[in-house]
Amino acid sequence: MENNKRGSWGSNFGFLMAAIGSAVGLGNIWGFPYKMGKSGGFTFLLVYVALAIFVGFAIMCSEFALGRKTGSGPIAAYKQYTKRFSGIGWLALLAPALIMTFYSVLGGYCIYYIGINAAGIFGGMPGGESFGALLSNPWMGIGMTLLFMVICYFINRGGISGGIEKFNKIGMPALFVMLVIIIIRALTLANAVEGLKFMFVPGYAVEAGFIEEAPSLISVLATAGGQMFFSLSLAMGAMITYGSYLGKHENLPKNSLVIVICDSLVALMAGLAVIPAAVANGINNGIAVADIKLSGPNLLFSTLQDVFHNMGPLGGIFGFIFYILVLIAAISSAISLIEVIVTMIIDRNTGKGKGPSRSKITAVVCVLITAVACLVAADGLGSTGIAPINLLQKINPDFPMAMWNDCWLDFMDTWSEGLAMPIGAMIMALVIGWEQGPNSLYNEIKIGYKGNMHLFYVICIRFLVPVAMAFITAGQISDFFGNVTAGYIIAGVLLVVFFALTFLSGRKLKKG
Ligand code: PHE
Repeated sequence: MENNKRGSWGSNFGFLMAAIGSAVGLGNIWGFPYKMGKSGGFTFLLVYVALAIFVGFAIMCSEFALGRKTGSGPIAAYKQYTKRFSGIGWLALLAPALIMTFYSVLGGYCIYYIGINAAGIFGGMPGGESFGALLSNPWMGIGMTLLFMVICYFINRGGISGGIEKFNKIGMPALFVMLVIIIIRALTLANAVEGLKFMFVPGYAVEAGFIEEAPSLISVLATAGGQMFFSLSLAMGAMITYGSYLGKHENLPKNSLVIVICDSLVALMAGLAVIPAAVANGINNGIAVADIKLSGPNLLFSTLQDVFHNMGPLGGIFGFIFYILVLIAAISSAISLIEVIVTMIIDRNTGKGKGPSRSKITAVVCVLITAVACLVAADGLGSTGIAPINLLQKINPDFPMAMWNDCWLDFMDTWSEGLAMPIGAMIMALVIGWEQGPNSLYNEIKIGYKGNMHLFYVICIRFLVPVAMAFITAGQISDFFGNVTAGYIIAGVLLVVFFALTFLSGRKLKKG
């Protein structure tokens, strides 16, 4: 591939590994399996796959095309692409920064667990109680977060082919092998089949008492959509950024398809690795299924650590392998988020005639993220009250508590995954479909791609994506803020207003 000052991927395989690395992350391991089990098992999987094909795949092709066509990160890319709606580029600065403030804390926790499992091999294997102790130890949290950010800094400083690509080319295959080892161990535990039933059999979660009642249809749709977006690293500028380093001869639809398939496959495999083990361990120790924590940080660091604890002396080895695997997944996603911001600043500097100075920029970005992340770490994600996000309740105890104000993790999640991603994607699709016209990007997609998916692309971008995004936004608002009607009204108004704006702007462009 051509080598300019910004850098570029060394090979298509390297690019694929990096993009899959961005997609495969904590979302696959602790989010997908539980959401699938809770929201209808196999039925949820079908909804998820349909959304991934008709919405995720189309958006991913568009993001790669936009990045490659403009040769720049999100802000500059949108500025070149659309004058009136270039503001969405800024979402791609905010959302990755927000996500990184907790992603780095969780990555740090992985390092801690690698350490305690390695020590456990030689005796005194810790169990799930270790997580409570870690959460209430601010200095340990901060130290681990720093360590995680230092690792990311060195990778991002190495640049596209010299850092990110290198890490993923080794990290991703290694992750796959380790995942297979953990799956084999998990599925051979007694009662593992209960976990499989929870994940795959529609309705089993309620029937067996894992959850009290099945979620509503809109909530399932929002869950599947939000998960799909987060998991595929969409609407965050990550794929625009990675696409901007791609050569013209690369096949965008083929690459996107491979990424979507691999990401979904790893999500399913992660489910096979963690859910059966967690459920089996709970049942074998006489815990009621409703009380087994099957998602989020508790699944990763408490429930699963208990599993390793109960495996006896070998548990330390499996725990060690498992947390290295999770750490690789976390790093490969984190570096893509950091790269979004780094690339944006590099492009800005180059535009002003300054040199790219990647090391300096990477250092500044990492320090800023770390500063906020340390607050989240000191607060133990929201458990110690050192830096409370629930300040409003402190002032007025009657203030209603919802997802957005109960803890740091959920707060960041609400704004990034809950709102910035679906709304950003909706506006993006409307701009492509109705302002600039689908061909504005399809012509870019066509380069390096011999097939014909024009009709499919037009239908997805113009109709399916915006409408699906409106429903997902409605569901997210009702889930996060606890108000269904407000969700539908806000999402509906956004859809209509932005459709009208992009449509009118498109007509003006044609005339002018
Ligand atoms: N896809 C990652 C995960 O599943 C998270 C992520 C989102 C990474 C957006 C980059 C951009 O955990």
